[in-house]
Amino acid sequence: MTIFTRTAVGAAAFALTALAAQAADIDAGASAFQSQCQNCHNVIDSEGEVLAGRPNVRTGPNLYGVIGRQAGVEDFRYGGSLVEAGEAGLIWTTENMVPYLLDPNTFLRETLDNNRARSQMSFRVRDEATADNIIAFLAQFGATEAEEEAEGES
Ligand code: HEC
Repeated sequence: MTIFTRTAVGAAAFALTALAAQAADIDAGASAFQSQCQNCHNVIDSEGEVLAGRPNVRTGPNLYGVIGRQAGVEDFRYGGSLVEAGEAGLIWTTENMVPYLLDPNTFLRETLDNNRARSQMSFRVRDEATADNIIAFLAQFGATEAEEEAEGES
């Protein structure tokens, strides 16, 4: 009996851990954005409201609505490789942004099939879970409007 109970509790704990590992954590993403991204990026909507980060940060492009957007199209002086990838059809998704954040140079080299491609973003996120959390945080901004537009069209 004791053994059975322990096994059941152990299995439940394992299932919970597995669930937690799958679900991206938006709050953790918000604080990771603060510590890792907002030195260079902010999130500002079309009315100029600052939704994340600080107003006058321009080292990196505004990330409002970045999920679902073509790469390299903000009002920003991007590097040639990112613009080229966007023109070749790179649209940011919650999936492809993970390898980009883990290693922007390798991501662009593989996307463009050109090992001289270079990213102007000199920063890497250390692990996939953190990247997932930050992406979940960013996906909140702008996605709803895009979805509403898409629904309106159908
Ligand atoms: C040291 C400054 C710096 C940091 C820190 C930084 N970035 Fe960037 N980021 C840039 C620059 C510069 C670019 C433009 C890259 C290019 O032109 O190749 C960029 C581009 C991007 C893009 C592509 C945007 C587009 O319009 O296509 C995304 C997405 C992005 N960064 C997300 C992040 C996230 C998320 C973080 C935090 C984990 C982060 N960045 C941290 C400087 C930075």
